[in-house]
Amino acid sequence: MTDHSTTQSGAPVISDAHAQSTGADGAIALTDHYLVEKLAQFNRERVPERVVHAKGGGAFGVFRTTEDVSRYTKAALFQPGVETETLTRFSSVAGEAGSPDTWRDPRGFSTKFYTTEGNYDLVGNNTPVFFIRDGIKFPDFIHSQKRLPGSNLRDADMQWDFWTLSPESAHQVTWVMGDRGLPASWREMQGYGSHTYQWINAAGERFWVKYHFHSQQGVKAMSGDEAERLAGSDADYYIRDLYENIDAGNHPSWDLHVQIMPYADAADYRFNPFDLTKVWPHADYPLIKVGTMTLNRNPENYFAQIEQAAFSPANFVPGIASSPDKMLQARIFSYPDAHRYRVGTNHAQLPVNAPKNQVHNYSQNGSARYQFNAPAVPNYAPNSKGGPAAVEPATVGGGWENDGALTLAAHSLHAADDDFGQAGTMYREVFDDAARARFLETVSGAVGGVQDAGIAERAIAYWTNVDADLGAKLRANLGSEDSSESEAAIKY
Ligand code: HEM
Repeated sequence: MTDHSTTQSGAPVISDAHAQSTGADGAIALTDHYLVEKLAQFNRERVPERVVHAKGGGAFGVFRTTEDVSRYTKAALFQPGVETETLTRFSSVAGEAGSPDTWRDPRGFSTKFYTTEGNYDLVGNNTPVFFIRDGIKFPDFIHSQKRLPGSNLRDADMQWDFWTLSPESAHQVTWVMGDRGLPASWREMQGYGSHTYQWINAAGERFWVKYHFHSQQGVKAMSGDEAERLAGSDADYYIRDLYENIDAGNHPSWDLHVQIMPYADAADYRFNPFDLTKVWPHADYPLIKVGTMTLNRNPENYFAQIEQAAFSPANFVPGIASSPDKMLQARIFSYPDAHRYRVGTNHAQLPVNAPKNQVHNYSQNGSARYQFNAPAVPNYAPNSKGGPAAVEPATVGGGWENDGALTLAAHSLHAADDDFGQAGTMYREVFDDAARARFLETVSGAVGGVQDAGIAERAIAYWTNVDADLGAKLRANLGSEDSSESEAAIKY
């Protein structure tokens, strides 16, 4: 039997089709509470979209630790044989909630591990590096990739203006203009934690760690032409691909590997190992397998479980902590703040965000509060009533040594630190001839959209710094005169 429709307060609804009015042709009445409630609820269906990574999709899964990495971390989820439920959300960065999935961009790769010790969130991308190395630049960077305030149009000038004035972006721009900027699907791309994080073992020893998710589906790219075609014909191509594959029982998996740097190595490693614009060569720190994640369950409700999902780099568990990376530290503030604004003060109580273990603390109230302590539990600490209390661990990890001076400074430079080196290596040594040709075509097209001659000239100098031959080919493609005078004036 069909359920009787009801108002939000549970009373039976008399008509789904007709509002109350004064006679069949008269004015509608405010006494029709159901009409008012329905229209008011409809007006409030949206929460603000994420300020970045607004377009995305995701699925639930399981992470199984298959190897023994207990000498590096005591985290319960990374102990041998442990299985942990997960939620992964994939996204693009700059486009709005309705934007096409296949616009060239880095792709977000966020995983929430519902561990026995609380939720651990790894909020990364399909690239191992990022455009900037200090969080104070993040709003400016994102503004430059989104829309002009006046026309509301995306704009090549502001993108290249920001990038060429922020040469630390060169490595990530090389990733994004290369094949990784257009994955064939979310299933066929890698995921990276990107930052250097800290692991702490049971004895309190500390290690620096980078995370790599390797797709068991392989890594595949899509051509620029195909991406453009899909942007017009199937804007939700990646969401559909993930949903339909999981629905058909074709569950995508990723092997998680880590690179581990002994704590003391960081001080004099040849470049600053906390610089998010750099990768650690595998020859120095090889990949160590941890386990496998499989996505096996589609959301039942996109809004409740994906739109309201709140991933945060601040969600650590014992055995995992932050590092001197200034970007990571900025993110630790930024995400929970975004969640309070976007989803609400009590976002952590929603089923998709709540940990599987019990939450005990003295926070209370706030909009849409759902959970509360038993009446006998006091709402303050310290107390003499047996309320929850912090347990000091035998070994306290998570910190690091520094000189203690409060400054406004860049990360300290190590001997081999520069902005263009790893981008050049990628172009020359990682890309093959065909990938280099596609890259040149993509960059030529992107810089070709720049109107301001000064910015275009800076973009040629930027790529010349990455690789002299690339710079020369780009200049030829753009039909630009060799302006050695202005190039010399552009110092990086
Ligand atoms: C200081 C630099 C950064 C700031 C301030 C920042 C800020 C934000 C904010 C405010 C959101 C929206 C969160 C929400 O509303 O739920 C977001 C989403 C996201 N960011 Fe960042 N971000 C930064 C750098 C990065 C980096 C370096 C990565 C990757 C390595 C990254 C990956 C993501 C991902 C994947 C999402 C989407 C999360 C989801 O699926 O819900 N961000 N970021």
